[in-house]
Amino acid sequence: MRLAGTIFTNVTKMLDFYSQFNPSPLSIKQFIDFGLNACERKSFLFLRKELPVRLANIMKEIALLPENLLRMPSVGMVNQWYERSFEEIIQFEKMEPEQPVLTQFCERLIHIRNRHADVVQTMAQGVLELKESHEVDPGTENSIQYFLDRFYMSRISIRMLINQHTLLFGEQIGAKQASVNGMGNGGRHIGSIDPACDVVAVVRDAYENARFLCDRYYLASPELELLQNGVSSDRPMPIVYVPSHLYHMLFELFKNAMRAVMETHENAPPPIQVNLVNGKEDVSVKMSDRGGGIPRSVSDLLFKYMYSTAPQPSKSDSHTVPLAGYGYGLPISRLYARYFHGDLVLMSCEGYGTDAVIYLKALSNEANELLPVFNRTSSKFYRPVPTLADWSASLNTGSNSQCTRTKNREKLSPSISHGL
Ligand SMILES: Nc1ncnc2c1ncn2[C@@H]1O[C@H](COP(=O)(O)OP(=O)(O)O)[C@@H](O)[C@H]1O
Ligand SMILES: [Mg+2]
Repeated sequence: MRLAGTIFTNVTKMLDFYSQFNPSPLSIKQFIDFGLNACERKSFLFLRKELPVRLANIMKEIALLPENLLRMPSVGMVNQWYERSFEEIIQFEKMEPEQPVLTQFCERLIHIRNRHADVVQTMAQGVLELKESHEVDPGTENSIQYFLDRFYMSRISIRMLINQHTLLFGEQIGAKQASVNGMGNGGRHIGSIDPACDVVAVVRDAYENARFLCDRYYLASPELELLQNGVSSDRPMPIVYVPSHLYHMLFELFKNAMRAVMETHENAPPPIQVNLVNGKEDVSVKMSDRGGGIPRSVSDLLFKYMYSTAPQPSKSDSHTVPLAGYGYGLPISRLYARYFHGDLVLMSCEGYGTDAVIYLKALSNEANELLPVFNRTSSKFYRPVPTLADWSASLNTGSNSQCTRTKNREKLSPSISHGL
């Protein structure tokens, strides 16, 4: 199918058209090679197809959300932003890649990035609006969780593409943005990627900023113990990565660890230990706190959007950064880790403390983007079917299968109904 030869007039048709394509994931190495070798024209030609493809893929999933969620004002607003941005990009579909068009494209991308700045909060608001006005059943809850993971991942990827283009080719605009984002120093950065991103420096930076918040709330904060391969060290550890992504994850983990430590130790808070290990396949960053840990009964909830044991930050405090309370820290951080095929896992010993490990791919050619693809498989997740348990009820729900069986046949698990 040739893109250039298609003449569709309305946006719905364009959406159908672009959503048939799978997004093309790039590795960090490809981002770097592209940044070093490709010209603005080539980047423009790539993005004017790839951006509508990524937008269309996720917009198709938005359309499958439960009717009552789509009707929430905030979700409607997000939907409109996506429609407008999609429309604005496809206007470039047939334009000749000459300088005035390239400049206009770059400006448009910056405009779109600004328009979408509040997408995470606004979508979260939409889900809250739904929960406040309707009862949400577990099936719908699962669909929303599934959607939010994919939606936010898509957003991370679209911002990555936009940032690379505008930082590399935006000249004055790009340079200004770069210095605002702290990405313009030293000239070794390729867009938002630092080929010598020092993990130690990012850990210290994230620690200091989390500590600032912690001091404000608790008037004290735990110290940091930095290790490499288990041995105390401050030696730089350069990796090829996007520093802002690494910072995001570490900042969230530090805030969580500090809160846990301060809530469990009034005096002499024990230090937070960070151990960095640069392996052949994985770079691992393990943060260990002695903040009392997390009971296993809630471990399934940690990566759920909006799960938080902290009081929700009040609206009157909206100008200050809260230490916790939105419940978005862990799920979004895990998306950042997974975006380049890393991961984020938590292990806890209740009564003692928690280990959180960020895994990153050590090789930039293996650090491929992980992107949601819209197709029949993904659509299936939006049609929640009432699920029957295929294991007996867990002990801590307190239910007794004997009672369940006689009272309500629907709750019978297949193994039970097969005569066990
Ligand atoms: N290191 C930790 N120790 C104890 N509990 C933790 C830790 N990290 C996370 N948690 C628990 O997980 C919840 C969700 O964390 P997060 O997604 O960052 O949201 P928030 O920090 O806004 O509550 C926290 O409210 C807390 O109950
Ligand atoms: Mg948090």
